[in-house]
Amino acid sequence: MTDLVTWAEVGGSLAAIGGAAYARHAHPAAYWSMVGLSVSVARLLASYTSTMDACGLTVEPPRWRALAVKATTRREVRPVPPRRGMIRPTSTGLRLRLRLAPGQEPADVAASAERLRHAWGVHAVYVRDVKPGVVELRLVGFDVLRKVQMPRRTDAGPLRVPVALREDATAFVRDYRAVPHELVLGATLSGKSMFLRDLLVGLAAQPVALVGIDCKRGVELAPFAPRLSALATDPEQAAELLPVLVKEMEDRYDLIKARQGIAPGTPDELITSDVWGLPEDERPAPIVLFVDEVAELFLVATRKEEERRDEMVTQLIRLAQLGRAAGIYLEVCGQRFGAELGKGATMLRAQLTGRVCHRVNDEASAKMALGDIAPEAVLASCAIAAELPGLAVVGDTSGGWSRIRTPHLSLADAAATCRETAHLAPDVPTLAPFRPHVPPAPVKECGPLATPRPITE
Ligand SMILES: Nc1ncnc2c1ncn2[C@@H]1O[C@H](COP(=O)(O)OP(=O)(O)O)[C@@H](O)[C@H]1O
Ligand SMILES: [Mg+2]
Repeated sequence: MTDLVTWAEVGGSLAAIGGAAYARHAHPAAYWSMVGLSVSVARLLASYTSTMDACGLTVEPPRWRALAVKATTRREVRPVPPRRGMIRPTSTGLRLRLRLAPGQEPADVAASAERLRHAWGVHAVYVRDVKPGVVELRLVGFDVLRKVQMPRRTDAGPLRVPVALREDATAFVRDYRAVPHELVLGATLSGKSMFLRDLLVGLAAQPVALVGIDCKRGVELAPFAPRLSALATDPEQAAELLPVLVKEMEDRYDLIKARQGIAPGTPDELITSDVWGLPEDERPAPIVLFVDEVAELFLVATRKEEERRDEMVTQLIRLAQLGRAAGIYLEVCGQRFGAELGKGATMLRAQLTGRVCHRVNDEASAKMALGDIAPEAVLASCAIAAELPGLAVVGDTSGGWSRIRTPHLSLADAAATCRETAHLAPDVPTLAPFRPHVPPAPVKECGPLATPRPITE
């Protein structure tokens, strides 16, 4: 009988351990909330001082305190760790603020991040500078990029789209006002088009004109036709669309100039050098141009095509150079983007401030995107596994970089969002001839702008 009870106890414990291991692997978020969080908090509280000491993050106490301790308790005076704020649990990890001791800098704590992660049994530890003397430790309980779930509260806004998740479980926000143009690089099947899809769907709900150039006959962007203000599906159409965009940009500069010259007595705050300074009722809608597989625009077979190519490249460079103030932004996607594409390629690349590099096949391709940001970022993008499409390394404007992954969004869901938001497409008359043909939708509710129109007038 006792044997039976013992066996039942052993069996029960083994089942519990197996169940916990399974839950940890299959449902890491639930496991973290139910088990991981309390274990890590207990470890942190129990070992805070000794861990900080082992990481070399403790300092000698001030002399007055040492004397006071000696006088009152006769205990040995021990080094003190940085003062710790409240532990704030989150659905993916926990956060805690540390007040740095005099003589310490955030880099000291960041250098120990790996040691802290092992000491407290979490997936990763990130250090963020909050204000002088205070850093925030972000402990991430599990690999959040394996199954991406965007945070519920994000810093979205006009022309700010939370498009992917960073490895520290915060949202990567694509902010067009801060970074007007971006280059998205990656080998085939690395997740570039998914990145564009997430971004386009994020912008679809905003009063922004979306323009697409997809020389793969439109297979990636044509499903979003109801929400697109213009679409070119081959280099010939692109060659017609780009000069129109340049003309639109020039018209917008004329509008700004007219505003500046209204009258000599115009108040200072009404003088503007970009569309954002115009009054709301006069301000033209921002335009975001998505170019999927940009190399298709550069590759030529005949001499006649060469001329067209040179013109298109020049127009793209002009849009990248001058578009921001006119509210025209570029999102350029490609597999490689180097000098071998031909004249103008590196010049265009230099204008694309934002850099996202998905999995690449060689270091040279990664260098085209991230070479001027950080050598470690290049290595990180070369190490992306093929099993994780959508994973990318993004270069920050500050020169920093981080790993991100887009949430999976099916083409059908994205197309449905575009149909629902079709009525939000702003009216940009110059682009009207390029409005893609939209086949009659099977669903009945459709905005007036979603009615089919011919491609050319
Ligand atoms: N973030 C992601 N999560 C899961 N699967 C993804 C993700 N991004 C891309 N994929 C999958 O990877 C494949 C290739 O993606 P795609 O965006 O078409 O790559 P590319 O445009 O670089 O060739 C698609 O089948 C897509 O479903
Ligand atoms: Mg693609």
